[in-house]
Amino acid sequence: MAQYMYYINYQDYEADLCALEMRALFNKSIETKVFFSDQWIEESISPYIKSRLEVLHEATTFEELIQMIKENKYIVDAFKVQYVPVIKPELSDREQKKITKAVGYVIEGFPSFEYPEIIYGVTCYDNKWYFGIVVYNTMLWKKHMSKPNSYSSSLGLNTAKAILNVAAKGDVSKKIIDPCCGVGTVLLEGHYSGYDITGVEIKAKVAMKARENLEYFGYQGRVILRDIKDIDEIYDAAVVDLPYGNFSESDEGNMVDIIRHAARISERQVFISSVDLTDNIREEGLVIVDQSVVYKNKSRRFTRYIWVCEGSK
Ligand SMILES: C[S@@+](CC[C@H](N)C(=O)[O-])C[C@H]1O[C@@H](n2cnc3c(N)ncnc32)[C@H](O)[C@@H]1O
Repeated sequence: MAQYMYYINYQDYEADLCALEMRALFNKSIETKVFFSDQWIEESISPYIKSRLEVLHEATTFEELIQMIKENKYIVDAFKVQYVPVIKPELSDREQKKITKAVGYVIEGFPSFEYPEIIYGVTCYDNKWYFGIVVYNTMLWKKHMSKPNSYSSSLGLNTAKAILNVAAKGDVSKKIIDPCCGVGTVLLEGHYSGYDITGVEIKAKVAMKARENLEYFGYQGRVILRDIKDIDEIYDAAVVDLPYGNFSESDEGNMVDIIRHAARISERQVFISSVDLTDNIREEGLVIVDQSVVYKNKSRRFTRYIWVCEGSK
């Protein structure tokens, strides 16, 4: 069975959100920024997975690793060897070059620095040396920051990406609904990652903005202009960014309605809100299976609660 070395990284204030995403993706708590798993997760669906190394060889010394690579007789054209930066303190550029050169030397074939078809990674972690095939998060999804329509209160890209993966547990074959899609921040991430995702929005102007955002990036997504209570199709999971209100009774009523209907049309739900709705969620008979909070920045100014629920109604 293949073994992967993952490297995750995040700003300190995003630690809770990253931990929530990792629990959903890997089905267990991840305590370190470098970890091993036999589970393959597409790196670019996550805001926090920086690299994934498919481990081909593991050794206690660099010399032993070189010997293993030599014995395995890798014959590849258009390859490149990179030192995978995982843990500080980093090796100097010079040291890294020495290592990659030594590895490149025992791989037969032609290196290609500009257009490699395969990138071999070598790294040292916890006193062990690793060699394998490495891929990096492309970060191309950051282009969504320049979407034409935005709200100051729209979810951040990292939050949108992470909660979507939490809802679907990283399984892009899942059928997802964003029943309060606003201008489509989550939809953009969903389409980028290849999820089957549908947006629903009650306000015509806002739905139009979401459609414009999708079109701008060439995504052919569905944004249905409707109240969530009129949606009957059943989805694997719902990502629900609850409307912000001024905490009046009518707002609370609307939020509870949305929670109820999201649970009616999906098997797993991720709710996100700036007000604490724990009691309302429980009163609706939903089981909270995980939860977290989102902070806006270094000051750890709290912005939103996240609840992961299971059980449709
Ligand atoms: C918090 S905003 C979503 C923002 C979105 N996640 C974003 O980042 O752009 C909630 C949205 O839900 C919509 N909404 C409110 N009640 C709704 C309902 N009953 N059915 C569908 N959409 C609703 C609002 O018009 C608003 O655009």
